[in-house]
Amino acid sequence: MTIEILQTHKLLESCEVALAERFTVHKLHEAADKPALIAQLAPRVRAIAGGAVNADLIAQLPALEIIANFGVGYDSIDTAAARAANVRVTNTPNVLNDAVAELTIGLMIALARRIPQADQFVRQGKWPTAGMGLFSELTGKTVGILGLGRIGKEIAARAQAMKMRVVYFGRHRQESEPHIFYDNLLEMARDSDWLVVIAPGGKDTEGIVSRQVLEALGPQGNIVNVARGTLIDEAAMLDLLQSGGLGGAALDVFEHEPRVPEAFFALDNVVLSPHQGSATIQTRNAMGALVVANLAAHFAGEPLISAVV
Ligand code: 8YV
Repeated sequence: MTIEILQTHKLLESCEVALAERFTVHKLHEAADKPALIAQLAPRVRAIAGGAVNADLIAQLPALEIIANFGVGYDSIDTAAARAANVRVTNTPNVLNDAVAELTIGLMIALARRIPQADQFVRQGKWPTAGMGLFSELTGKTVGILGLGRIGKEIAARAQAMKMRVVYFGRHRQESEPHIFYDNLLEMARDSDWLVVIAPGGKDTEGIVSRQVLEALGPQGNIVNVARGTLIDEAAMLDLLQSGGLGGAALDVFEHEPRVPEAFFALDNVVLSPHQGSATIQTRNAMGALVVANLAAHFAGEPLISAVV
């Protein structure tokens, strides 16, 4: 008898094929009547593949042993409820570091040099009769990294290659890191030209980039968010971008994504991206393989590869 698992959202083809080879997979996201499917499978579901798992769902699945999240960020999983129910949780760290770091630098250059706007300018036939204007470069600027974790370090290395000065804010000073550490986010924002947000989402970091932090970054400052929309006071950011209190924003994530406040669309000082940090074929395949490998390890009685609970 194969092990029955519940998949909570669409996964990459390679991952779905690998799951189907090993398990009997039930697709919650495709069910017309989700509560009925959960009720019917409850005694048999031993694993969940995917995120968006709240305490209710965990409580309804008494045979659940493990949740294998597709993504390094696991803020969509109630880890406290999982821990209390003795359910393991895994994520997909490391395999996406390079892809996310590359997109971050791409967004920074795109915003600094207004690349999406320049593309529109040429396509709209404006070039023969007007100039685009002059913008700024990354070289010589200070970038403050909020969250110098695995991805943050890859961003730092690439920012240094762009001849930027790197500083960081986090819970602790990291003695092995050569960059200047701030224990105060507001002060780091005041001293930085760019603020890159790459810390985990969830309750602990909600709204950490407050109006005050954005004001400290200031009219010449730019913010980049490749983490979670919840970290930034989005309404304050929008307000400051509109009034000139904040220079610019390059955003891959949003508070209520995939819904993005339409007011952003009218702004020239923003670059918008639909949560594409890890969205390369190579990286998504590797993330999918890690989801499967964690589940396989669990059911083989082997140590998990990347456990968070
Ligand atoms: C998403 C991410 O998980 O890993 C993360 O935390 O934000 C992304 O890689 C991915 O978009 C899957 O939806």
